[in-house]
Amino acid sequence: MDLEVTDHLLGTTRAVRRKLDLDRPVEREVLLDCLRLAVQAPTAGATQQWRWLVVRDQERRNRLGALFREVGTAYLDAKVADSPQRARTLASARHLVDIIERVPVLVVPCLLGRPHGGNDALSVFYGGIFPAVWSFQLALRARGLGSTLTSYHLEREAEAAEILGIPADVTQVGLLPVAYTTATDFKPAPRTPPEELTYQDSWGSPL
Ligand SMILES: Cc1cc2nc3c(=O)[nH]c(=O)nc-3n(C[C@H](O)[C@H](O)[C@H](O)COP(=O)(O)O)c2cc1C
Repeated sequence: MDLEVTDHLLGTTRAVRRKLDLDRPVEREVLLDCLRLAVQAPTAGATQQWRWLVVRDQERRNRLGALFREVGTAYLDAKVADSPQRARTLASARHLVDIIERVPVLVVPCLLGRPHGGNDALSVFYGGIFPAVWSFQLALRARGLGSTLTSYHLEREAEAAEILGIPADVTQVGLLPVAYTTATDFKPAPRTPPEELTYQDSWGSPL
């Protein structure tokens, strides 16, 4: 393993909203290459209940984008920018809401079935796709594309299902706007150091 390259990829794969190239087409092959890597991700019992809906059609992007914008705007209007970092994230999120239907590809990761049950069942259900979603995002980044995992439109999941022809027993887990990026010099984000978040043997004892 080339640790330098691997660590750079893992440490600099950001939510990309502003630096998306809206004019450069995204090839089917590059999407399939990234999805081929994504589906190497683990699932409980190796069940692989995922499906991936790649939305390229402009009419459908417009309709999905309208839902995204309505929910996203209401969500962002209610947020307070209580730090410069937070203000930057909110401005970036607002930008994405403004341009959503112009992003060349919108990917909706889906799971067969509907969520039900307690923490154990829900953990297995959603855990059956999010590792793959993140692998997809990493694979995109390695090829010069960017994405953001978003959840706004799930508030109107049934309407999105109607736009995309998704059956009622299938669960959408998010929406990823995907495009080539206009920059590649992404940086590690400020994060609380793991030493402050990690315990050994009992809750609160430092590692
Ligand atoms: C489950 C989940 C849902 C998210 N939903 C949204 C969303 O609806 N809109 C958005 O702009 N970003 C969304 N994000 C992206 C986060 O805002 C982003 O990861 C966070 O700001 C940290 O930025 P970074 O990924 O560049 O480090 C979501 C991320 C996760 C993991």
